[in-house]
Amino acid sequence: MSAKTLSGKDAASRLQNEMRQQVDQLKAQGVIPGLAVIIVGNNPASKLYVRKKSEASRKLGIYSRVIELEEDTSQSRLLSVIESLNEDSSIDGILVQLPLPKHIDETEIIEHISPEKDVDGFHPLNIGRLFTGEDTFIPCTPLGILKLLQEEHIPIEGKHAVIVGRSNIVGKPAGQLLLNEHATVTYCHSRTNQLSYFTKQADILIAAAGQAKLITGEMVKEGAVVIDVGNSFDENGNLSGDVDFSQVKDKASYITPVPNGVGPMTITMLLHNTLKAAKKRAMIEGE
Ligand code: GUN
Repeated sequence: MSAKTLSGKDAASRLQNEMRQQVDQLKAQGVIPGLAVIIVGNNPASKLYVRKKSEASRKLGIYSRVIELEEDTSQSRLLSVIESLNEDSSIDGILVQLPLPKHIDETEIIEHISPEKDVDGFHPLNIGRLFTGEDTFIPCTPLGILKLLQEEHIPIEGKHAVIVGRSNIVGKPAGQLLLNEHATVTYCHSRTNQLSYFTKQADILIAAAGQAKLITGEMVKEGAVVIDVGNSFDENGNLSGDVDFSQVKDKASYITPVPNGVGPMTITMLLHNTLKAAKKRAMIEGE
């Protein structure tokens, strides 16, 4: 079997075209959706992500504010920047790019973002809502994966989803989201014994461990749907996902490439969450 490549790039551009119309509708009601992105320090990968997020927002007509802070910014300064954005009525969404420098208490920072503006879906209140199945902001990469599966009409209910990786940003919320969609979910991670025993059982395999080419052909069941969230560099310095694409493409039914797989969907879901927040504001202001 040769897998169909799931292009996140194509799905993202379709979804963004729909969103552009929603932005125009909001503007007609006098609401300009606004997103603030805070970056602390000079991590090159973070800088690139932030630039992409800001460019994508602007292209849709979303007001984008990037706040660049020095590496040695104090905890209290960062908290006060968040506080002023919480109170700023032109800002619907606040995102603090992770990772933060080591001297910053990340948990306190995330908990300081107003849950109503938490477009990353990382605040414990929103994580709790995801677990109880209430309407909430869903973290962007897991939501992007779900939308990509739905765009291709790939069934989830009753399927065995195996998640490799247990980060708060991807692995844990992805599992919960698929559980809410009635999948049977198994979490694997760096200390899982006999990883391939589990991956071979996956109907839907999500590789989010941050380890280049971790998933080889023999670890995948014939016909599986394979989603690669990896974004690291292999031994030759080339960008690589967590999946060995050339091996796995002959076994999977669907596979996401790196780049142009999950990445563009993550950014698109940030725009989706920002619009969701702005729509709520439009409803409140319209009352
Ligand atoms: N760093 C890597 N991915 C993300 C993300 O989705 N949101 C934030 N805030 N930081 C990240």
